Formats: sequence, structure tokens, C-alpha cells
Amino acid sequence: MNFTDKIIWITGASSGIGLELSKQLAARGAKIILSSRRADLLEKIRDELPGGKSRHWVAALDLADPEALFAQAPALLAKFESVDILINNGGISQRSLFLETDFSVFRRLMEVNYLGTVALTKVVLPGMVERKSGIVVTISSVAGKIGSKLRSGYSGSKYAVVGFMDCLRAETKQSGIHCLTVCPGFIKTDIDINSLNAEGKPQQHRDHATENGMAVDVCCNKIINAIEQHQDEVIIGQGISGLAPTIRRFFPTFFNYLSARKEYR
Ligand SMILES: NC(=O)c1ccc[n+]([C@@H]2O[C@H](COP(=O)([O-])OP(=O)(O)OC[C@H]3O[C@@H](n4cnc5c(N)ncnc54)[C@H](OP(=O)(O)O)[C@@H]3O)[C@@H](O)[C@H]2O)c1
Repeated sequence: MNFTDKIIWITGASSGIGLELSKQLAARGAKIILSSRRADLLEKIRDELPGGKSRHWVAALDLADPEALFAQAPALLAKFESVDILINNGGISQRSLFLETDFSVFRRLMEVNYLGTVALTKVVLPGMVERKSGIVVTISSVAGKIGSKLRSGYSGSKYAVVGFMDCLRAETKQSGIHCLTVCPGFIKTDIDINSLNAEGKPQQHRDHATENGMAVDVCCNKIINAIEQHQDEVIIGQGISGLAPTIRRFFPTFFNYLSARKEYR
């Protein structure tokens, strides 16, 4: 697939997977719309991409505030002649046991990871359907395929996103839209530092599994390959984090036994 001059809207572009996708896709000639909450940081990132501000845009938004997004949408969409690819990537994780976790944490995870994805897709999809062309990519997680300790809210939000994308794929296939769901395992980014604890505060420390996870550039290269190959769903991870959904599918009792014994951080 030729990404030259394709307009690609990427959420979570200030860090980790979104930042790396922005760099790799810009290097392949795409024009990037960079989104996250931190406008200053996004502007700095945009200026360092090839072509800088003459080719790329910043659209600061809070995924947990869909009303603001809907209000901003007409002015934002007027800036770009079309959006060829939407990458719903922005999100937050969790490291806390269900019984200890405040209800507000479950709400926050759903608002950012699930409703934020639905809201931005609502903004972008009508233009794609009108043009009968477009790709919607959503970054779920291996946690959207299997459950494990410390992630009851995160997993719920990521399962929700998988179901959303399955429905969207069915509804938009006839309109020429392609929907790709990406389920990464442990990828070395700041996701662990930013993960919410039982009180809903970022835990502010590294986890062993994330620190030893797949390099973010390797992960993003695989995401771009999956876009090019028009895959519907891809699981990207090394070791147990890549194999877990398959183990659970074929050996559910064994998988459930393991996940009750182990605690992955
Ligand atoms: N790394 C992994 O091991 C892993 C595994 C599976 C799935 N994932 C998924 O991959 C995606 C990217 O995560 P990452 O690993 O790159 O983590 P990261 O380095 O912590 O980046 C998260 C990104 O999401 C943005 N974000 C967070 N809350 C937001 C909000 N309310 N509104 C708008 N943007 C928001 C952040 O930007 P601002 O702070 O600037 O707003 C940041 O750019 C997430 O959906 C995550 O669940 C990651």
C-alpha cells in the first residue's frame, strides 16, 4: 500500500505506539493528524516529522470529553480535505485488584478507551462512507482477548473495543471501509507508568513485563504491515503475551488455571 499523501489521524500520538506510528507513517509519505491532550508536545513532535507543519496537523483532544470533540468536529474536519485512515490508539491501562479499585476507575477506563474510540469514529466515519473508502484501525489489546489479574477495568474496556470493531466491520464492509483491530501484548512504552492504580492515579513506576516487552518500533512495523495486508485482526506480542489468546482458545481450563496463579505486571 502506498501511504504517500494519505491523511492519517492518530490518537495517542504524544507517546509510545502512537508516536512511533506517526514517525513511521510520516517517513512513508503520509500526512499525520496528531491527537492527544498535550498540544505543546504534539506541536513539537509535528515540527520534527518530515515536512513539519506544512504537511501535518495537531488536533488536541481529550478522549474522555466526547461533547467537546463533537463541538470541535466541524472546524477540525474543515481543515483536512479527507481522512483516509483513522487510528484509534490513545488509551490508558490499569494495575489494581477489582475489590480494591474505586468505581471511578472503571468509568474512566471505559470513557477513554471505549467511548473515546466510539466518539472519534462517529466524527470520521461519515466522510469515509461518503467517499466509499477508508480504513479504521483500533488498538485494543491482548487484554481484549483474555482476562488476567489486575486488569478487570482495562480488559473490560478492551473487550468492548473488539466487539465494537467486529460490528463496525460488518456494517461498513459494503461501503468500502476496512476495519482492523490490533491486539498488542506487552510493548515497551510508558503504558505501565501511566496505568491507573486503585485510586485512579498513575502508578508512576515500571513493570517487569512491559519493560521486557516488544520494542515499539517492531510493534508499529507489524501494525503497518497488517494495514497494508488488509487484515481484520492481528495479535502482536512476543512470548506468552502473543500466545495467550491461542492457548486460551484451545486449552481454556489450563489457561484459566494459569491466570489464577500468575500475576503479570
Ligand atoms: N504498551 C503496551 O504494552 C500495550 C499493550 C496493549 C495495548 N496497548 C494499547 O496501545 C495504546 C497506546 O498505548 P501506549 O503503550 O503507547 O501507552 P502510552 O505511552 O502511555 O501512550 C498513551 C497515549 O494515549 C494518550 N491518552 C491517554 N489518555 C488520553 C485522553 N484522555 N485523551 C486523549 N489521549 C489520551 C496519551 O496522550 P496524552 O497524555 O498526551 O493525552 C498518550 O499519547 C493504548 O490504547 C493501549 O491500551 C498498549
